[in-house]
Amino acid sequence: MRINKYIAHAGVTSRRKAETYIKEGLVTVNGQVVTKLATNVKAGDLVEIKGQPIYNEEKVYYLLNKPRGVISTVSDDKGRKTVLDLLPNVKERIYPVGRLDWDTSGVLILTNDGDFTDQMIHPRNEIDKVYLARVKGLANKENLRPLTRGVLIDDKKTKPAHYRILKVDTVKNRSVIELTIHEGRNHQVKKMLEAVGLLVDKLSRIRFGTIDLKGLGSGESRRLSKKEIGQLYNAAAHKKNEKNSN
Ligand code: URA
Repeated sequence: MRINKYIAHAGVTSRRKAETYIKEGLVTVNGQVVTKLATNVKAGDLVEIKGQPIYNEEKVYYLLNKPRGVISTVSDDKGRKTVLDLLPNVKERIYPVGRLDWDTSGVLILTNDGDFTDQMIHPRNEIDKVYLARVKGLANKENLRPLTRGVLIDDKKTKPAHYRILKVDTVKNRSVIELTIHEGRNHQVKKMLEAVGLLVDKLSRIRFGTIDLKGLGSGESRRLSKKEIGQLYNAAAHKKNEKNSN
């Protein structure tokens, strides 16, 4: 098996990140530094990244209803609570598939499967990410329409998004919007809504592809079933195929 695939399979990181480590000379096989991406590894070889051995583990997939006030990294140098603190009994080295901000709640998938992660976060696969945003200000078709064509954030246009206005409260001067996007850029929803003049004051991800939060309270988690994992792969492949046939 190719070395980057082997590392991704071991769940340590994604295949692309593994390539970076290899190019940077941080990967050894049986004690020898390897920098060629074409290197093959076989069972029994000792693969290490920065001196840490890699072991292949059973692939596991969890769904967490992330509360606000928790960061979605596996460790934090400031000692803040991380999403892994909410899954204390998982022995595999899982990590989040993409990120949610500290103050964003909702659907977060965690796994040790790097290939799965690549499929889920690659913008080409256009997995739906559905957010519920409470914003300051009054939403209407006129101010939200640019979101359907794409708005400039950090000098790059966003892919077309889909919105629904769920509530407009003229007394409190705030609105609730459902926004579906297909990318995963940093603070994307907050920046997109800010770009159309609406400041987000509460954000929750209510769906990732085919996965929603049904039956899961804040801070609760569960294993994803084989069927659910299959459905997520299908959602990714479906979009890819749609594009190839166009
Ligand atoms: N967009 C944001 O602005 N924040 C998130 O946490 C997720 C998407």
